[in-house]
Amino acid sequence: MCGIVGYIGKREASPILLEGLKRLEYRGYDSAGVAVLKDDALTIKKHKGRVTDLAKNASAHGLSGMLGISHTRWATHGAVTEANAHPHVSHDGKIALVHNGVIENYLSIKKFLEGEGHTFASETDSEVFSNLIAYHYAKEPVDSPSRFLDSVRRTLSHIEGTYGIAVICTERPDELVGARKGSPLIVGIGADEYLLASDVSAIISRTSNVVYLNDGEIVSLKDGELNLLTSDEEIRTPEIQQIDWDIAESELGDYEHYMLKEIFDQPQALENAMRGRFSDDGSTAKFGGLNVSAQELRQVDRILLCACGTAWHACLVGEYLIERFARIPVEVEYASEFRYRNAPLDKNTLVLVISQSGETIDTLAALRESKRKGYKTLAINNSVGSTIARESDGGIYQHAGPEIGVASTKAFTSQLHILSMLALYLGRLRDMSYQDGINYVAALKQAPELVTETVKLNDEILEISKKYKDMSDCLFLGRQDMFPIALEGALKLKEISYIHAEGYPAAEMKHGPIALISAECPAIVLATQPDIHGKLLSNIQEVKARGAPVIAIANQSNPLPPELVDDQILIPDCHRAVLPVLASIPMQLLSYHIAKLRGCDVDKPRNLAKSVTVE
Ligand code: F6R
Repeated sequence: MCGIVGYIGKREASPILLEGLKRLEYRGYDSAGVAVLKDDALTIKKHKGRVTDLAKNASAHGLSGMLGISHTRWATHGAVTEANAHPHVSHDGKIALVHNGVIENYLSIKKFLEGEGHTFASETDSEVFSNLIAYHYAKEPVDSPSRFLDSVRRTLSHIEGTYGIAVICTERPDELVGARKGSPLIVGIGADEYLLASDVSAIISRTSNVVYLNDGEIVSLKDGELNLLTSDEEIRTPEIQQIDWDIAESELGDYEHYMLKEIFDQPQALENAMRGRFSDDGSTAKFGGLNVSAQELRQVDRILLCACGTAWHACLVGEYLIERFARIPVEVEYASEFRYRNAPLDKNTLVLVISQSGETIDTLAALRESKRKGYKTLAINNSVGSTIARESDGGIYQHAGPEIGVASTKAFTSQLHILSMLALYLGRLRDMSYQDGINYVAALKQAPELVTETVKLNDEILEISKKYKDMSDCLFLGRQDMFPIALEGALKLKEISYIHAEGYPAAEMKHGPIALISAECPAIVLATQPDIHGKLLSNIQEVKARGAPVIAIANQSNPLPPELVDDQILIPDCHRAVLPVLASIPMQLLSYHIAKLRGCDVDKPRNLAKSVTVE
């Protein structure tokens, strides 16, 4: 939530900052702002709304200076107004700051500062931050070369909460300071320039050399030098990492929305998830970065899967896959619940967290809590170098490429595919036969081709979407491994089209939700599993008997009787290990088209942000 970019170098800062902000907009987009410093003159431009509008405004105001900071906001403290937009300047006009995170003790600091004569222009916690830095700055020796850095350092020791910050000072027109705790921050090292950013996407067009800040670290960028202080105030030699990212992957190309592009990216994302990850004899999967030996994995007698949102739905599918194919008991927890529970875990429990961004605060907290208790932790993650990737004991990178649309699509199916590969690997370490392994691997390898075939249903799904676009409620029904897909279908629809939608296990409907069924509440039913086909037909009859339109997702080889369904989407037949991926695709396309037909902002739905770095 919230994206920040800072720049210091030999070029005009504002175009670079605005370009970076556009790429971070998925982190929050209710207001944006930029501040640049030239000599001791600070120029600030803020805008309630999108970065593109800020950019138009900013160029009209000729922001000039080679040092600057910028921010795109997802409101936490204070309404969406220009006054609450960042950067926030201290009452004496000397310190400007952008902040991603939440200061928990801001009210007591504010009270203290008001007592010291500070005045405030916004309702935000972040304005307290810039003022506390100004307070300490005023107290530092005037001739100290590290006066600015020391004032930030002192301030951080009083801050409770989370932050990724970039700060400038009118009396230090040659220095940019950044710090992080709980919210991500990286330093990009370019030609004669440094950038600070919430993530790589903001800077990748300028450099692929980055330094990841650890929690509690502060960085000073000054006179062409990068100085890094650890949380123990020791100097750390920066470890420069090379980002292996193709900027073209984050371009929209000919697609109208990132979400549609990312739906069509899925065959490639699945290929990437599998590359180099099968044994030479083609009977099992292999993973380079697990850091857990086969012997240790054979000892595991329980797996805890933990995540938020769509990634939590992936965990639910993982439960079915791992229990079915590896015969290991699995539990699934919302990360936000797990972190505050004192759930007893057995010493042979393996904790696996899943996160596209690798920065979701609740998932990170669950990971840390598990580590604190001594459990082996693994992560499935799409962001190389993210906090979760760095803090887990081992893991599996998704390599799905950047996901920019706020509604997760390709990251979700890539997580499902990796979970399927993991189920195979764990199964083969136990009692899955060689031949079953061979068949499983062949099925996984076929998935990209089957997905390519499934996305060709796009035009057909558009036509179906036109019939249902005005519905105000919708039920998604599925059983067993299709239940989480029903949940995910409902989440996709509600988050981008604002239609009320619920996912239910089809047979549970009779225990309450059936009361919602009416001609105005269509049901989308996943009828794709041969073993329970008959049971699902009965569930569909129950819906039909109450007058609700039924849209079925079924297999090409086993379509439903036309009198039972109003519309039917037929997906290719496939192995059970691949079914959740294939069944997700019609859901994604339905949500996409319905949202678009309703005129919704598909890639940037209201109230949401892609990376949830606040609790
Ligand atoms: C919904 C969606 C979210 C995320 C959730 C976790 O489409 O994308 O529900 O899945 O915020 O995010 P990550 O996977 O980055 O931890």
